[in-house]
Amino acid sequence: MHLATNHPGHVKMPTSSHNLRLGLFAAMLLAAVSTARSADSPVALKNVFKDHFQVGTAINRSHATGTGGGRRSQERIEKDIALTKRQFNQITAENDMKWQLIHPREGAEGYDFGPADALVEFGGKNGMYLVGHTLVWHSQTPNWVFAGTIPPPETADAAPGRGGFGRGYTGPRASREELLERMRDHIHTVVGRYKGKVKSWDVVNEALADGGPENVLRNSLWLQIIGPDFIAKAFQYAHEADPDAILRYNDYGLENPVKIQKLVTLIKSLQEQGVPIHAIGTQAHLNVSTAGFEQMDRSLGEVAKLGLPIHVTELDINSAQGGQRGTGADIAANAQATQGGLVSEADRKLADAYAGIFRAFIKHREWVEMVTFWGVNDAVSWRRSGSPLLFDGENQPKPAFDAVIAEAGREAGVK
Ligand code: G3I
Repeated sequence: MHLATNHPGHVKMPTSSHNLRLGLFAAMLLAAVSTARSADSPVALKNVFKDHFQVGTAINRSHATGTGGGRRSQERIEKDIALTKRQFNQITAENDMKWQLIHPREGAEGYDFGPADALVEFGGKNGMYLVGHTLVWHSQTPNWVFAGTIPPPETADAAPGRGGFGRGYTGPRASREELLERMRDHIHTVVGRYKGKVKSWDVVNEALADGGPENVLRNSLWLQIIGPDFIAKAFQYAHEADPDAILRYNDYGLENPVKIQKLVTLIKSLQEQGVPIHAIGTQAHLNVSTAGFEQMDRSLGEVAKLGLPIHVTELDINSAQGGQRGTGADIAANAQATQGGLVSEADRKLADAYAGIFRAFIKHREWVEMVTFWGVNDAVSWRRSGSPLLFDGENQPKPAFDAVIAEAGREAGVK
């Protein structure tokens, strides 16, 4: 087991009592799996996998505050929260620590900490390991961050997308120095505020380019204005703000050999520069057609060669017909990725896919330290119409939940 510093600590069972405990554990698991269908099942993912890795979920504002779920009734929100407490020992802010939401207006007075504070309080009260998501990202970053007086170059690629969040900003730009100062102030303020409480941060999110091998980095405004060292600077600033925090690089599509090679190029470069990077976040936004043991085993095997702990950070498996190609995670393409209804035999295919990837997680448990689902249940998922999670919209465990629990039993020697 490769533990990052200040890891919450997984204790391996002593070999002398190992077989006895294994037998008892397997017996408990078998008995429990048969009752896993009930919503009040005593079987908790966090307990079943406690000797291997943490199991967590992204939570949204209504879960952190306990109110105001828009489409979602108060009764269902409360059931979502109960399920979160019972099943998970780690939480990630799905949106409320992103620049767009925590620092929407320029300057020191431009922060809205309320929702993030509520999430940190919720996690602290429930003894959960807190992950902050995310400090530097090409998406959901307000235009003011990149704005300045320097005219954009004629050939500038403003990374077309929805304006207003930095992706599509095409106005006059800040200088390298101005943008670095804004990045440092933001990171020092946010990471400093939650020092000692938020244990791990997605410092830089999705900086790798999609597509062919020719471009390693995404042509974001961060890259265009600061240059490729924006990544190293972000990790430096985060480490200055909380030297004990686990700092990770987070990206999607790390099931694709071309993108894995880009990750290796990037991370090795950062390691050679002595950049304080402590873990790799692989988002794992998968689909039922390709997700399984072989794909995850290959991906984890390659990423583990970097010698850093691996966090599975945004796990879901899309069962919608429109999402059966690729493992992208761009919200702009999400409508297409979740159209067309569910594939045939979706429940069975989802169960098989989750069983396979958890078999890979268990095989690579020396490196895998955290598995975070990207949502508590299907109804609150960003890909809700793709039914991508272990619990349905009424927080009932699906066959995929039983399959994951059974996978732990198989590893514990239960045939
Ligand atoms: O809060 C507003 C609400 O007031 C308003 O009425 C509503 C109208 O559309 O929008 C709400 O904000 C939405 C926000 O989620 C909170 O629900 C944004 O429009 C919407 O764009 C945002 O989507 C999030 C997406 O990131 C943004 O890119 C998803 O919830 C979130 O699951 C998704 O997560 C990302 C990770 O951060 C990074 N990896 C990929 C992953 C999937 O895109």
